[in-house]
Amino acid sequence: MRILMLGLDAAGKTTILYRLKLSEVVTTIPTVGFNVETVEYRNINFTVWDVGGQDKIRKLWRHYYQGTDGLIFVVDSSDRDRINDAKEELQHMLGEPEMENAVLLVLANKQDLPNAMSASDIMKALELQKMQHRKWFIQATSAPTGDGLYEGLDWLSRALCSK
Ligand code: GTP
Ligand code: MG
Repeated sequence: MRILMLGLDAAGKTTILYRLKLSEVVTTIPTVGFNVETVEYRNINFTVWDVGGQDKIRKLWRHYYQGTDGLIFVVDSSDRDRINDAKEELQHMLGEPEMENAVLLVLANKQDLPNAMSASDIMKALELQKMQHRKWFIQATSAPTGDGLYEGLDWLSRALCSK
């Protein structure tokens, strides 16, 4: 399954990718370009493309859309100032024809930070409930401890199997 993992810079994408791949926390630097790793879970091979989220390189995201089965959209739950930017990027992306059939897993990451918004606040801010025709799910996560990551993958594996 081809999985695309996107989100604003510093949301925690690369940290999540290597937590899943290596079960450890790696020190990251902002991704310029992409990382790609295969993660096996429940007999499914997820090829996860983690593309850098800095403003200037977001326009490259569209080159990765084609053939995407599932989108993991990672949000920094403590970044209240940019939740609207995250919403706009997400809505824009989901409007692209190549993404029409992709299932959507939103990770409300950085739940360990004291000022983090809850998953339900993020659901409202991203207006997920307005998505009528898309399979979506939101999961609270904390990348350094791995909390929530496998619950998210569980949903993704089930959503992709029934696709
Ligand atoms: P770009 O590559 O620039 O798009 O960023 P990214 O989304 O890959 O973010 P990255 O994984 O590099 O994480 C950015 C910073 O957030 C790093 O210092 C991580 O250690 C930290 N971080 C990631 N996830 C969490 C989390 O759940 N909680 C906390 N407290 N810090 C996190
Ligand atoms: Mg990165």
